[in-house]
Amino acid sequence: MSETTPFLFLVLSLLTAAVSSGSGELDILLALPQTIQSSATPNPFSSWIPAASPCNFVGIKCDQNGSVTELDLSRQWLVGTVNFTLVCALPSLEKLALGFNSLGGNVLADLDRCSKLRYLDLGNNRFSGSFPEIPSLVELQYLYLNKSGLSGAFPWGSLRSMPNLVALSVGDNRFEPSPFPLEVLDLLDLNWLYMTNCSIQGKIPPGIGRLTKLINLELSVNNISGEIPNEIGNLMNLWQLELYRNNLTGRFPPGMRNLIKLEKFDASRNNLQGDLSELSNLTNLVTLQLFVNNLSGGIPPEFGNFQKLVNLSLYTNQLTGPLPEMLGSWAEFNYIDVSENFLTGRIPPNMCNRGKMKELLVLQNNLSGEIPATYTNCSTLTRFRVSNNSLTGVVPPGLWGLPNVNIIDLEMNKFEGGVTSDIQNAKALGQLFLANNKFSGDLPEEISKAESLVAIHVSNNGFTGRLPQSIGELKKLSSLHVENNMFSGLIPESLGSCDSISDVNMANNSLSGEIPASLGSLPVLNSLNLSDNLISGSIPSSLSLLRLSLLDLSNNRLTGQIPESLSIQAYNGSFAGNPGLCSYTISSFRQCSYHPGMSKDIHMLIVCFSLLAVLLCLCLGFCFYINKREKKRGRSLKEDLWDVKSFRVLSFTEDEILESIKPENLIGRGASGNVYRVVLANGKELAVKHIWNTDCNNQKKARATTPILGTCEKRSREFEAEVETLSSIRHVNVVKLYCSITSDDSSLLVYEYLPNGSLWDRLHTSRKVELDWETRYDIAVGAAKGLEYLHHGCEKPVLHRDVKSSNILLDEFMKPRIADFGLAKILQVNGGKDSTHIIAGTHGYIAPEYGYTYKVNEKSDVYSFGVVLMELVTGKRPIEAEFGDYKDIVSWVSGKLKTRESVLSMVDLRIPEAFKDDAIKVLRVAILCTATLPNLRPAMRSVVHMLEEAEPCKIVGIIIEEDENVKSKAIQPVDAAKVKPES
Ligand SMILES: *[C@@H]1O[C@H](CO)[C@@H](O)[C@H](O)[C@H]1NC(C)=O
Ligand SMILES: *[C@@H]1O[C@H](CO)[C@@H](O)[C@H](O)[C@H]1NC(C)=O
Repeated sequence: MSETTPFLFLVLSLLTAAVSSGSGELDILLALPQTIQSSATPNPFSSWIPAASPCNFVGIKCDQNGSVTELDLSRQWLVGTVNFTLVCALPSLEKLALGFNSLGGNVLADLDRCSKLRYLDLGNNRFSGSFPEIPSLVELQYLYLNKSGLSGAFPWGSLRSMPNLVALSVGDNRFEPSPFPLEVLDLLDLNWLYMTNCSIQGKIPPGIGRLTKLINLELSVNNISGEIPNEIGNLMNLWQLELYRNNLTGRFPPGMRNLIKLEKFDASRNNLQGDLSELSNLTNLVTLQLFVNNLSGGIPPEFGNFQKLVNLSLYTNQLTGPLPEMLGSWAEFNYIDVSENFLTGRIPPNMCNRGKMKELLVLQNNLSGEIPATYTNCSTLTRFRVSNNSLTGVVPPGLWGLPNVNIIDLEMNKFEGGVTSDIQNAKALGQLFLANNKFSGDLPEEISKAESLVAIHVSNNGFTGRLPQSIGELKKLSSLHVENNMFSGLIPESLGSCDSISDVNMANNSLSGEIPASLGSLPVLNSLNLSDNLISGSIPSSLSLLRLSLLDLSNNRLTGQIPESLSIQAYNGSFAGNPGLCSYTISSFRQCSYHPGMSKDIHMLIVCFSLLAVLLCLCLGFCFYINKREKKRGRSLKEDLWDVKSFRVLSFTEDEILESIKPENLIGRGASGNVYRVVLANGKELAVKHIWNTDCNNQKKARATTPILGTCEKRSREFEAEVETLSSIRHVNVVKLYCSITSDDSSLLVYEYLPNGSLWDRLHTSRKVELDWETRYDIAVGAAKGLEYLHHGCEKPVLHRDVKSSNILLDEFMKPRIADFGLAKILQVNGGKDSTHIIAGTHGYIAPEYGYTYKVNEKSDVYSFGVVLMELVTGKRPIEAEFGDYKDIVSWVSGKLKTRESVLSMVDLRIPEAFKDDAIKVLRVAILCTATLPNLRPAMRSVVHMLEEAEPCKIVGIIIEEDENVKSKAIQPVDAAKVKPES
């Protein structure tokens, strides 16, 4: 007995342990869904029920003893937080996979208790905070933390206790900047290393050569400098090498040639020099991307024999010599972009041999010869761009009709011949660029069957014949440039049905006949140039309905009267060189002769003007009198009769407000009145704007610039209408108007008080504060939403007309509100094409169209908002002495878009490095908003959308492209599960 007792005891205790651990595991698992929800169908947790064995739960695997070894809930649409204390209480857990979900919260230090783990995947989630030290996870082989929302310093030291690590994926996290972690160099079994976009700086250490089992090495989008070390040549198993967007310099090191298993190589956007000879025997390359470097020399002829090559992108380098004749002819070649080099010779003819090619981009080289006829059968082509070369000959028919092509760009070459009628098959063609060649013949009528066309640019050629008369079928056409050709005949009447057209240039042809009156009904036409033709007849008065920033009808044979509405300063010179034209108002033209119908109109006009002038004088006199009376009377607000209109439930009385209108409460002087801060008895703060004689004052101010005259009475009614509309606005990003209190000679507008003042103050004045990027971004989005609401959310669109940073106020949480509607204008839905005639705004924020035409619309607000975005990104005022010749921030910014460095240099120094790319995304939106042509500016609705897309952290690794036409590259988030190491 004495011998068996301990044995029995042991068996018994083992049994109890097994039983308790079994039920313990069930409890642990059942507790997990309390903090995690899944919206997957079927819901994995529906199988997690107390009656079942945990080993039958979806996502769970057990060992022979019934103990849980695997918890795999990746891609199960999970939200919520994981209790790692619970999870790590599973004693046999070897695999924990929670990748591709939306889990949040912190990854707790308790993770270190999962000491049996071999596989840990928390990647592609939204955790926060830093990653804990995990030195106990000594068995770990696979560690996936990429794009998991982590920040702070990564515990590289923990890697020392994981000698068996095979895959390490920590990229796409905002870790604190650090040099390449030397701990990684001791992980000799590593075959998968993903460290893209995780703030690595300094050099690639030569010790990288020890990791000879690596098949994937990704270090893109970091701040790595120096040369690629020679030792990289030891990594003979490499299948993929990604060094995209760093600051690498020097040549490809000798040894690169050893990487013969390499299939994917990307070292684009660095400062690499030298030639490509070191790559000439990497015969297994599938994808080679080296764009935007300083590479020179020729393209190795061996590239022409690469049997697997399908993607080749070498644009923006200094490469010379020819492209190999057989390039891309072996595999299912996909795209080539060798634009912006100094290449010579011919376009390789066989890149579409396998019928899969999508993009042929060889812009801006010195290529010669003809377009190979082989491409006429390449039905997969979407982009064919060969502009700015020395190509010759006739474009092979068939190219015009490629069914999937969306851009054909042949500009600036020496092409001859014509466009053939098979262009009617080009159903996807959006842009046809043929300018500056020697094309001839006519533009076939069938072009109007290419229904996707947005732009037709065929200027500076030798085209003849009539313009296609059915061009009105092109409902998407936005830009038509046929200038400097020899077109003759009539301007197509059907052009008036091209509802999307904004830009028409037919200058310097031999067009004759009259200007179709239908052009006046084009809703978005902005620029019309018909100069230097043989056009006759009179100018249709319908043209005055357009909002044109450019109108040029000069040097034609037009006759008759210039419509009065077009006789404005902005169109000075638009009618020159038409000896048959006459005018009543422009002195440089012949005076129009007597016309019975006209004379009546003029009489009416004179009478109207006189009446208006008399009324104006009366009004001014009245104002003058009132002002004087006011000065004498001093502050005697309470003596007047006040009319209170409230728009919200009020917790204050009229008297409370009136008593507070005194100098000591003055907090600002605005364009339309003084602003007072009022503290009510209950402690609530209000802002009260006091406007004396609103109507007349406004009129005096506006008189210098506006052509519109009116009476005080009329203005007053307008003012009330505006106040009423604005009072109905309820939006979290628009300042609240509580009530208006009006008397005969002044008005009080009672607004909510915003304690943090204006964005202008916070950015530019002595009351400047540190605005971090997230705050600035939130201000940008909030203000955009407020403005979007004004433009699109109200019953009638409201035009603010004075958007600027001093009119964006900040509440206690620094959330923005649009304020100061002193100049706001409610657009009359049917009144004159949704535009307004009054020049308003603030220097530095005023859209250029104010200079061309009195007609402006909501796109002018968009411009001003773009200026505000630029202030947020650059920290500069709209007008600064340092802009020098550029004069204002918009032209200063556009002058600095040449290189990535100069773009980055514009970003406010107070914005940390890690957020500069985000800031540049917002800057890009600002640039779109400040386009010169109003039509090219996005509506506020899309501005909001674009800004939301630019949310910090949201798009990791998408880089601003200097040239949108050049192949852009976005980093694909690595799908850790997709490519498994060979192991
Ligand atoms: C996690 O689970 C443990 C064990 O059940 C519990 O003590 C702890 O409070 C939980 N933590 C959280 C944050 O709920
Ligand atoms: C890139 O490296 C060069 C030379 O080492 C250096 O002059 C330059 O400032 C670096 N650029 C960036 C953006 O770090």
